[in-house]
Amino acid sequence: MKQTEAKEKLETLRKQLRRYNYEYHTLDQPSVSDDEYDKKLRELLDIETEFPQLITADSPSQRVGSEPLDAFQKVRHNVPMLSLGNSFDEQELRDFDRRARQGTEEEVSYVCELKIDGLAVSLKYEDGLLVRGATRGDGTTGEDITANLRTIRTIPLRLDAPETIEVRGEAFMPKKSFLSMNKAREEKGEMVFANPRNAAAGSLRQLDPRIAAKRNLDIFLYGVGEWQGEASKSHSERLERMKQLGLKTNPEWKKCKNIDEVIEYVNGWIEHRADLDYEIDGIVIKVDRLDQQKVLGFTAKSPRWATAFKFPAEEAVTKLITIELSVGRTGVVTPTAILEPVQVAGTTVQRASLHNEDLIREKDIRIGDTVIIKKAGDIIPEVVRVLDDQRTGEEEPFSMPETCPECGSKLVRLEEEVALRCINPNCQAQLREALIHFVSRNAMDIEGLGEKVIAQLFQEELIHNISDLYKLDRDELLQLERMGEKSVDNLLKAIEASKENSLEKLLFGLGIRYVGTKAASTLAQEFGVMDKLMEADADRLVQIPEIGEKMADSIARYFDKPQVHELIHALKQEGLNMEYNGPLLNEGPEDSPFNGKTIVLTGKMENYTRSEAKNIVQELGGKVTGSVSKKTDLLIAGEDAGSKLTKAEELGIEVWNEEDFANALED
Ligand code: IVH
Repeated sequence: MKQTEAKEKLETLRKQLRRYNYEYHTLDQPSVSDDEYDKKLRELLDIETEFPQLITADSPSQRVGSEPLDAFQKVRHNVPMLSLGNSFDEQELRDFDRRARQGTEEEVSYVCELKIDGLAVSLKYEDGLLVRGATRGDGTTGEDITANLRTIRTIPLRLDAPETIEVRGEAFMPKKSFLSMNKAREEKGEMVFANPRNAAAGSLRQLDPRIAAKRNLDIFLYGVGEWQGEASKSHSERLERMKQLGLKTNPEWKKCKNIDEVIEYVNGWIEHRADLDYEIDGIVIKVDRLDQQKVLGFTAKSPRWATAFKFPAEEAVTKLITIELSVGRTGVVTPTAILEPVQVAGTTVQRASLHNEDLIREKDIRIGDTVIIKKAGDIIPEVVRVLDDQRTGEEEPFSMPETCPECGSKLVRLEEEVALRCINPNCQAQLREALIHFVSRNAMDIEGLGEKVIAQLFQEELIHNISDLYKLDRDELLQLERMGEKSVDNLLKAIEASKENSLEKLLFGLGIRYVGTKAASTLAQEFGVMDKLMEADADRLVQIPEIGEKMADSIARYFDKPQVHELIHALKQEGLNMEYNGPLLNEGPEDSPFNGKTIVLTGKMENYTRSEAKNIVQELGGKVTGSVSKKTDLLIAGEDAGSKLTKAEELGIEVWNEEDFANALED
């Protein structure tokens, strides 16, 4: 492909992908299948790899999270980002309305919006291109978090019109993502986030954008800082126009003719806030007409034309009946408070996670205590504190057991972890949880095996470990509750089909610590077959560019265990595929200088295009990566090589020029 042709093709692809992205993430109405999207994205990535000089800042490929920063740059907001005055009840809302009508000497209508509980951010677009994203900071000066914000898929990298505009909004983490992230963190013995707001803010304040990229954040934009040539006359018009530009606004906003309608809106949401998939902590009420906003102006801290109605605190008092313990897949033992059922924020709460022993001790929580509970940002019930003055003396202090509540083996606290773990590989609870993971979608993808069925299989002793899954027979399954002929046949079919899965699905399913889907794929590609992976020690594993020390160590230790060897052997006996079914990495001729090496190409060569050189290296068994690190074996640098060359020299990595490359090929 010629460069001019590539450029045109890239423009078309980017436009299509931008559209698909918007339909999928912002409108929630995809017009094409995931496969089709992936195909187009792959096409784009291939062309960009071949013509790296054509990569633009607004390309959909630029969302994955760039290299870590050293520090955030300070950013001055031209128009300060103010906060809002609060109202706590109906009377205060009526007072706000009276002041607005007195101040304007007119009737006033309002826009009501949900007050999203996240992190306030500003996005600046120049001629339609996203040029900067920043935190609010102290209102005057914030921090440049562009690299993190770019990873949020609902933030357009380019607007649908070449506007120069600075918009404001709230970045947040949806409740679902928050819950699953915390669950995974708890399993790994890591600290959990207290609520989605902390999780969102914590993710966006990381210097490494790859962290934010993994966190599934979202945004709603609700206002304008500056807008060159703005035509809107009211806030509601602004919201409509922002939406037309491709900016994600919250769909629940409403125009209200007077304060009575405002109060009705507020009361409606006090009741229904639990139905939303994101946290809100109130309602923002804004005077709609911009000319009236101007007349009303600002106090030192906040606009006189808006107020935030804050929801009443969602707390309740109840009794802690007992503390239950559960064992997760990785053996982490988690204490849960069992409560007398009580209503909080629209739902009945009867359990609250206590996370770990440290927390129980810190709050001095005892069995029988009267406690205040709240829903941490509304989703996860949490014990706020104990009401000491309600104690009768009957309360019993709690300490974590020394042995596993399921299997009785001794619990251990691993270094630097807050969690206690059961490390008995035959612990039933762990096996049950491990099987739930093994059959999950990204792992062996066996449909029809829900948690309840798995619990039954263990209870009825039809299964003792993962490989028993492949020994289940039809008659046994038919005896289980709620399992009819059809579901049993479908289940058996799904189990049988899973035997053909490519190696990476099995690897992920094994639940090796730190090995996610991506690492599983890398390992499957690198080693091709299970046996080779099992032989690899940590030194060998850490040579793979995507595998860090911690992961390498964990993989090597996993495959060192005799019971893992037994498991793999048993799975082989059952006929499970142990090979990677995708395209294999090339192994070059024996005397190839590139075999098994990680190579970076940079600069311009006279006789080879970048993609030609890349193909040659790959055919000769080399692996080409994009950036120089400790794991790079060789840098091939053409003319005008820049920072990659400097870095390679700093790290003492071997560097070749074009002539060296050509000579090696001749040899
Ligand atoms: S308007 C000048 N609208 O609440 C007023 N704020 O204390 C600008 N927030 O810092 C704020 N949802 O982070 C506005 N729909 C919404 C909002 C909202 C959440 C946050 C924002 C601000 C704080 C107000």
